[in-house]
Amino acid sequence: MKTIVVANWKMNPPTFREARKLFEATKKTAEKCPKISLIIAPPAIYLHALASNYRGKKISFATQNAHAEANGAFTGETSIAQARDVGAEYVLVGHSERRAMGETNEATGKKVSAVLAQKMTPILCVGETKRESSGEYLDIVGEQLRTALADVAPAKISKVIIAYEPVWAIGGETTMSPRDMHSMAIFIRKTIVGIYGDIGHSVKILYGASVGEKNVLEMLREGNVRGFIVGHVSTDPERFATLLKVIQNET
Ligand code: 13P
Repeated sequence: MKTIVVANWKMNPPTFREARKLFEATKKTAEKCPKISLIIAPPAIYLHALASNYRGKKISFATQNAHAEANGAFTGETSIAQARDVGAEYVLVGHSERRAMGETNEATGKKVSAVLAQKMTPILCVGETKRESSGEYLDIVGEQLRTALADVAPAKISKVIIAYEPVWAIGGETTMSPRDMHSMAIFIRKTIVGIYGDIGHSVKILYGASVGEKNVLEMLREGNVRGFIVGHVSTDPERFATLLKVIQNET
């Protein structure tokens, strides 16, 4: 089974010229990593040019966000069909940085359904902002999952990818412990199987927060995940190359 790696560039790099350079470097490394399925999520404004100039099959593209409506008066937004038309096959839904800007669980639910209706793959991001010993974070993640998946038919659930991102661990150098991720993956799977039955076992779960070349392997071996969503390290071509090679060589 290939390891899925999503490179979430967020609002980087600052120029298209640099984006192209980063893409070329990433492409070179990716071609040497047959055990990895790589999805790049560049800023929407770079997506078309990067995807339309790419002739290979190794890399797929995601958009970092899209609007649930098909078209209309939504200044500044991009529709799911527009993203698909210029080369995206995946859509990140409910990233914590979008939730921090006001995206609700209900809005993520609409987006997940709309992405599936376009025959694309939603990567639903869930995760708590802080972790308290009371275990409240499980209620938060459970609610994020239930609301976002409320309108997903059983026949479609295996197409949804869940990215668990503990918001408190994003942007640094320390991941959550693989043991804690293991428990979280069980909780996520249990929640989905609780709604959908056995088919829920087929849902892929990714981990994303401060994934780097030093912690990726332990997380892959012990974290009970199918892959990763990588932020800042994915925009550093050398570090990202090392990270991909670690996965390629050690799995
Ligand atoms: P970092 O890898 O920078 O912690 O970001 C994680 C993330 O938000 C990926 O979507």
